[in-house]
Amino acid sequence: MRNPIIVALDLPDPDQALALARAVGPHVGAVKVGKELFVSAGPEIVRALRAEGVGVFLDLKFHDIPNTVAKAVTAATRLDVQMLTLHAGGGREMMQAAEKSAQETAASLGRPAPLVLAVTVLTSFNEAGLAETGVPGGVENQVERLARLATDSGIRGLVCSPLELLRLRSVLPSRIQLVTPGIRTGTEKADDQKRTLSPAEAMAAGASWLVVGRPIYAAADPVAAAQAIARMAGA
Ligand code: C5P
Repeated sequence: MRNPIIVALDLPDPDQALALARAVGPHVGAVKVGKELFVSAGPEIVRALRAEGVGVFLDLKFHDIPNTVAKAVTAATRLDVQMLTLHAGGGREMMQAAEKSAQETAASLGRPAPLVLAVTVLTSFNEAGLAETGVPGGVENQVERLARLATDSGIRGLVCSPLELLRLRSVLPSRIQLVTPGIRTGTEKADDQKRTLSPAEAMAAGASWLVVGRPIYAAADPVAAAQAIARMAGA
């Protein structure tokens, strides 16, 4: 079985991020480069990680007109990322354009297409905050609506909270990959994560990949933490 752990490199310093990725890379499935690291270090950090043989999840959550997102996806595909994110709220045409761009660019390079993942409703939203943006009916309904729209648009994976796993698994085709942050083993702090699942619970609930940040990068021994969490996830 493949290793489902993705380590979030939530560090501003590219040298630190690269050192962490070198150490934990052999014990995980991929590393996640988010906005802080990418804006600090640029595409060079992605090239450096790929040169080390580490799989990269580029988490920039694209949301723009279809043509602009398609071009950003082309650029990310050329960087040889394994996964990337966009906001499902960008709509059908944007998601179709992104998926097409990932497939066509990868085919022209003779590589498998990166997994384009849709983000539905950010977990920072509650019902009142969502209603203020003009979306009544609650968070769960909007998550399900956007998840269905994403899969109807040809998107092959979604980012979701651990507590959305069971519901999404019951309404989406089983081929859809679900990527879940909010993972805690019980031995460390929950930090600012309000609702968490353990690695085993999240896998049992239908997660395909687990995004883990502080429990690995802030551990006294990140390699041992990555190995332990991978074991808990059944890898
Ligand atoms: O350190 P921790 O394990 O909480 O990190 C989780 C990672 O997943 C961070 O990179 C965070 O931005 C991301 N994430 C999250 N919750 C979401 C979406 C993304 O924690 N709803």
